[in-house]
Amino acid sequence: MASTDATRELVEECVPLPGGELRLLRPRDAESLLTEDAFTDEELLPYWAEVWSSSVALARALSVRSLLGAPTLELGCGLGLVAVAAARAGARVTATDWSIPAVELTARNAEANGVELEALRCSWQQPDELVARAPWPLILASDVLYDRGNVDLLLGLLPRLAGPRSEVMIADPERPPAESFLACSRERWDIETSQTPGVPRVSLHRLRLRPSD
Ligand SMILES: C[S@@+](CC[C@H](N)C(=O)[O-])C[C@H]1O[C@@H](n2cnc3c(N)ncnc32)[C@H](O)[C@@H]1O
Repeated sequence: MASTDATRELVEECVPLPGGELRLLRPRDAESLLTEDAFTDEELLPYWAEVWSSSVALARALSVRSLLGAPTLELGCGLGLVAVAAARAGARVTATDWSIPAVELTARNAEANGVELEALRCSWQQPDELVARAPWPLILASDVLYDRGNVDLLLGLLPRLAGPRSEVMIADPERPPAESFLACSRERWDIETSQTPGVPRVSLHRLRLRPSD
């Protein structure tokens, strides 16, 4: 895959996890990637370019599991920490984001850590390719519930991606839109929430579709 400008000046960050550290390439300065165009085209916002604490929490939770080839979808993969941790735990991962440099770096970070995964550009607004492959046994997302638009998109999308046996794991740094997502989801989903030791102020929500009558 050709490098974009955003992936030219990279530094390596080590993330310690129960199964051993992962090394992630990330842009040296995420803020410098913010351009005027991002104010009119949300897809260009460089939110993908940082290792958010929610991704560390979710990667930790996955690192102590054995995922045994489970087809696993990540929504909004950013730099790929969660996807790489899931792949190392044995999952068959499809990591998605609408940002081209995020997908590029996720592929590079997987390779650098010696795991295989599929890195795919796909937005929640045009998810047909992901819906066609549903139900996904495991669906992952970290720090994606940061605005009302995302909440509405994911409230609509997740039931189309999940089946009765699917598990959805969402890590969130207790942002207000996440509260509204959870409140709206309770009717349809059983939700368990826990904290991750060592990652303060990040909640891990596990959702399962409630059986319909
Ligand atoms: C705050 S970042 C979190 C990145 C990563 N999950 C982490 O925790 O480090 C949110 C991610 O969601 C992606 N994203 C936001 N809206 C999206 C959409 N509508 N479709 C696909 N990806 C989206 C962004 O590009 C970004 O990578």
